[in-house]
Amino acid sequence: MADRKATLTVDGLDKTIELPVYSGSLGPDVVDVRGLGAEGLFTYDPGFMATSSCQSAITYIDGGKGVLLHRGYPIDQLAKESNFVELCYLLLFGELPNDEQYADFESRVSNHTMVHDQINNFFKGFRRDAHPMSILCGVVGGLAAFYHDHMDINVEEDRIISAIRLIAKMPTIAAMSYKYNVGQPFNYPRNDLNYAENFLYMMFSTPCEEYKINPVYAKAMDRIFMLHADHEQNASTSTVRLAGSTGANPFACISAGIAALWGPAHGGANEAVLKMLDEIGDDSEENIQRFIDKAKDKDDPFKLMGFGHRVYRNFDPRAKVMKETCDEVLAELGIDDPQLKIAKRLEQIALEDEYFVERKLYPNVDFYSGIILKAMGIPTNMFTVIFAVSRTIGWISHWHEMLSDSYKIGRPRQLYTGHDQRDYPAK
Ligand code: CMC
Repeated sequence: MADRKATLTVDGLDKTIELPVYSGSLGPDVVDVRGLGAEGLFTYDPGFMATSSCQSAITYIDGGKGVLLHRGYPIDQLAKESNFVELCYLLLFGELPNDEQYADFESRVSNHTMVHDQINNFFKGFRRDAHPMSILCGVVGGLAAFYHDHMDINVEEDRIISAIRLIAKMPTIAAMSYKYNVGQPFNYPRNDLNYAENFLYMMFSTPCEEYKINPVYAKAMDRIFMLHADHEQNASTSTVRLAGSTGANPFACISAGIAALWGPAHGGANEAVLKMLDEIGDDSEENIQRFIDKAKDKDDPFKLMGFGHRVYRNFDPRAKVMKETCDEVLAELGIDDPQLKIAKRLEQIALEDEYFVERKLYPNVDFYSGIILKAMGIPTNMFTVIFAVSRTIGWISHWHEMLSDSYKIGRPRQLYTGHDQRDYPAK
C-alpha cells in the first residue's frame, strides 16, 4: 500500500530514516512512523493534532470544505432522506439495507429495547438529583453484568448482538434516568413505535393520561439522532477504541465513551450553550457584546459555547441541517423563543467579527441542537444524554471495525521531563 517514502534526517544521527507514505481513498496522505521506535525515536503530538490513530472506512470529514460522509453518503442527504435506524445499519455493516434487511434489523433492535428488570434496582442507588450522564455512565457499564451470554469479542455474531443491544437499550436507559430524576414511574418501551417516537414516549408518557406523540417532535428527534451518529476519531470514539484495544467488553467500552463525551469541549457543549444563553439573559446588544469580548479575552478561559471545532475550519455541515430543523420546528410550533434571538445575534456577530473569522470559528452542531431540544420540553441536563444515545452507533461501529481487523493495544509513549534517576535519601 506504500507507494511513496518520506525521509527523515535528525541532527546528531548520522543516518537517514525512510518512512512509508500511504494514501487513503480520500484525505491527506499519512506517514507511517511505526518504524521510528526501533531507531530510538518517538513522535510527539499532544492532542493528536496530526496523528491518524487507525485505518477506518466508516466516516470521512473534510474540515476545510465542511464535508461529512458516512460510508460515502453526505450527511445532509442522509438527514433528509434516511432515518436513524437505517443509518445505524449503514454505519455498522457498511452498506444501505434492502427492504428485507431493514425490516429484519429494525425488528432485532425493537426486540432488545427492554432492560433486565433487575436494572431498575440500580437506579435506586443514585440520588434523585444526580446528573443523568452520571447515571448513564454507571448503568451502561453495569450492562456487562446482565448480558454476558454473547460477549465474546472475538466472535462476530456476539459483537453484532452486543451492538444491537446497546442501540436498542440506550434510549430506554436514557429515558429511565430522566424519569428517576423527576420522580415519575419508568415507562416500558413500545415496540409499535419507531426509534424516535419510542424515546419521546418513554420520556414524556405518564400513567395518568394518554401521551400523543407530536410528529414534528418525532421527526426532529430522529434528525438529532442522525446528526450526532458518528464523527470519525473524535475524543469519545478514540476512547472507545482505546478501551476496546485492551479486550474490554463492549458495555465497559461504551461507558468509557460516555465519560469522554460528557466534557463541555465535546458532547457537554449542547448543555453549555443553553447555560450560556441563560447567562446572557436578554438580547440587548451590550449584553451579547460583553460575552463576545469575554470569549476573545486571552486572560479569560471562557469560550463561546457551540463555536469552533478541531476539524471543521468551515461551517459544520451538521450545523447547517440542524439550523434548518431548528427554524422548521420553531415555526411549526409557533414558538418565538427569545433565546433563539440571542443565538442568531451571536451567530451573526461571530461570523463577522475578525477574531472568529481569522480563526475560522463557525457555529457547530451543538449550537442549534439545544434550542430544538428545549423547544420540545427536554430538560438541559438530558442534552448530552441524547448525544450519547445517538453516538452509541458510531462508537460501537468503530469498536466492531477495529476488532474485525488486526489491531494492537493502544499504548502511546511520552516525552519524559521528570528527574533523572536518583537515590532514596539514607535514613
Ligand atoms: N470561543 C472563543 N475562542 C475560541 C473558541 C470559542 N468557542 N474555540 C476556539 N477558540 C480560539 C482558541 O482560543 C484559539 O485561539 P488562539 O489561536 O488565539 O490561541 C483558536 O481559537 C484555536 O482554537 P483551539 O483551542 O486550538 O482549537 P481546538 O481544536 O483545540 O478546540 C474546541 C476545539 C471545539 C474544543 C474549541 O473550539 C471549543 O472549546 N469550543 C467550544 C466548545 C464546543 O462548542 N464544543 C463542541 C464541539 S462540536 C461537538 C462535538 O463534536 O463534540
